[in-house]
Amino acid sequence: MRWTRIFVPLVAAATVLVPTAPAQGAMSGTADRAPAQADRSWSTYHWGRSGAVQAGAEVDPVPSPRSGGVHGTIVGGTPTTTDEYPWTVIVNAGMFLCGGTLVRPNKVVTAKHCVTFWGGPFDPSSVRVTAGRTDRTTNAGTVVGVKDIWLHGSVEEGADIAVLTLASNLDYKTLALPAQGEAPQYNEKSRILGWGLTAENGSASQVLRQAEVPVTPDSACRAAYGERVDLGLEFCAGYEAGGVDTCQGDSGGPVEQNGKLIGVTSWGEGCARPGKYGVYARVAAVADEIKAQLDG
Ligand code: ARG
Repeated sequence: MRWTRIFVPLVAAATVLVPTAPAQGAMSGTADRAPAQADRSWSTYHWGRSGAVQAGAEVDPVPSPRSGGVHGTIVGGTPTTTDEYPWTVIVNAGMFLCGGTLVRPNKVVTAKHCVTFWGGPFDPSSVRVTAGRTDRTTNAGTVVGVKDIWLHGSVEEGADIAVLTLASNLDYKTLALPAQGEAPQYNEKSRILGWGLTAENGSASQVLRQAEVPVTPDSACRAAYGERVDLGLEFCAGYEAGGVDTCQGDSGGPVEQNGKLIGVTSWGEGCARPGKYGVYARVAAVADEIKAQLDG
């Protein structure tokens, strides 16, 4: 049985605060937190269809709409701008914050878990995309609505990838997609980007951050995560020693290598831990299906 992964997105408050207490009952009927880890902030949720927490998985408090919360940002990176990376966009889905990548003027690739929180797809009207806003606490750039959400596979199966069709075009540079089946360059650097947490138990970044991480050989990714990782649809990136990684709030955002969108930020055990790489949806594995969504 394939376990469903559910992730904690970043609350889309203008000023993002890490909640001091989990939102009790926020996930009612969906999952239970592991008591020992109940106070961990903003790690990946993993649980099965039955709602049981997967053994060994990280569980975190759900961001409270009242206190605000962070869905993750780059650990070990440096501040950058959307002028530098204009295709990196903010995806606000309901109360959560994710990243995304503009691949056509009206199409954004993001993580499926960013737009299917609570177990079902979000209504497109609850999703907004913002381009050109380096500092997400400002009003810079352009905000557009979403008129359609396409999920790869179903909510529970398939790649952690969704394609958003925007209500109007965004006049920003787009990022190219890889060819179907094109392998990433393993052991070579890739670029991760986002507004997520800057430390596993830290706070979210106000400004866009970037870092470079090598794409991890599949054997090492398998060794780190065992059967939890689906190497057909996912790859790892990061350093064996840890220290540089995506984190909560970065989900949905790009992994760029050689001018192409090779990955979508998906999950990891904690953030930037030694031996625990970031796990990314493998765009090339489903590139043709994504491309089929790009006309219209
Ligand atoms: N699931 C997180 C999110 O929704 C992304 C976590 C990435 N974690 C990592 N260690 N690379 O924002």
